Amino acid sequence: MENFNFYSPTEFVFGRDRENECGAYVKKYGGKKVLIHYGGGSAVKSGLIDRVKKSLNDAGVPFVELGGVHPNPIDTKVYEGIELCRKENVDFIVAVGGGSSIDSAKAIAMGVPYEGDFWDFYSGKAPAAALPVATVLTIAAAGSEGSGDSVITKVDGMLKRGAGSDLIRPRFSILNPALTCTLPAYQTACGVTDIMAHVFERYFTNTTEVEITDRLCEAVLCTMVKEAPRVIADPNNYEARANIMWAGMVAHNNVCGVGRGQDWNSHAIEHELSAMYDCAHGAGLAVIMPSWMEYVMNHNVMRFAQMATRVFGCAMNFENPAETAKAGIKAFRAFLKSIGMPINFAELGAKVEDIPEMVRKLNPGNGWGFQPLKAADVTEIYNIAAKASV
Ligand code: NZQ
Ligand code: ZN
Repeated sequence: MENFNFYSPTEFVFGRDRENECGAYVKKYGGKKVLIHYGGGSAVKSGLIDRVKKSLNDAGVPFVELGGVHPNPIDTKVYEGIELCRKENVDFIVAVGGGSSIDSAKAIAMGVPYEGDFWDFYSGKAPAAALPVATVLTIAAAGSEGSGDSVITKVDGMLKRGAGSDLIRPRFSILNPALTCTLPAYQTACGVTDIMAHVFERYFTNTTEVEITDRLCEAVLCTMVKEAPRVIADPNNYEARANIMWAGMVAHNNVCGVGRGQDWNSHAIEHELSAMYDCAHGAGLAVIMPSWMEYVMNHNVMRFAQMATRVFGCAMNFENPAETAKAGIKAFRAFLKSIGMPINFAELGAKVEDIPEMVRKLNPGNGWGFQPLKAADVTEIYNIAAKASV
């Protein structure tokens, strides 16, 4: 295991009806004027925004609001939010929604105190300050409720890029699993896929002797395999929703990834798909992640065989571990298909002729990850993904 620091300062407020405490928590963390930031309307329709506003009113905290965050959030909404916060002297941002609303809120939070263009933080610069951010989560997926990351797309050039800083870790995150019951089955499955991908990006490591984090990763993965079919069959199953919601946080606040090298190539490869086709991030991962696995499997066959036996219950073939590894990848892809995810380009709506452009924009070659990838490797992964089947 490698040396590490683990910093996860967010207060998680979990359970039924907890959104009604939002105002009290804003007060606890010193917010004097709030921006409520949300998406395309699901949180308005469900009455959640009204409940959040009521709790702020009850706590005597004034607020302004900015809705309309696009899934795969874009820079133009961030500029709008920065301007509004400055004009209204906002000092605290509450994102209500999923990764998109939260990431947009984090970008605004970094942009408000910064004199330059907030995009600098998505081009490698570290922020020196940020407004405090909190979340009321409505979809278990991105893990942004517990992470120091934000992903934004710059409309000019459709560049999807990430920024990371402890300054944008939420002060508090309200996680009421009941809020996720209104999710369409497709979005639920996209979320499950993203959660599994966050774990796999950490699981496939070159660091040895990491039993504790291996086992934590496997616990999250097994939970997804058990609970996802339950919520697809019964969207109002609170207990299954609760397990998935907490798993989404555990998968990405890095408790499963400390002390070990991580990969993240599948995420980078997927981000080109969601930038180009505006598909759901989880759906893009369903197409890419098993294809990446097939391509890099021989880098460490035993690690893939371990995943196959411990997560998908495949029988270990001691004479030919590669067969076990392959069976695990096949089981993963079949699982994704069974919960309604696309598994190839045609099902996602992606085109083979766009592969060179995606590889050009991704510009691989830095040589990082479980198995360092060059442009030719990424091209081959897209090619595998294009024609994948179960
Ligand atoms: O916009 P509304 O109307 O709210 O609809 C959303 C959206 O269409 C809908 N939805 C959310 N909660 C709902 C609901 N519909 C009904 N009932 C509910 N309770 O679901 C759709 C997807 O929402 P979105 O916020 O886009 O989903 P997600 O949480 O998957 O976030 C995706 C974004 O997060 C980024 C992705 O790249 C993508 O841009 N990521 C952020 C990360 C981070 N900050 O740490 C890490 C991830 O790897 C990921 O890259
Ligand atoms: Zn993700």
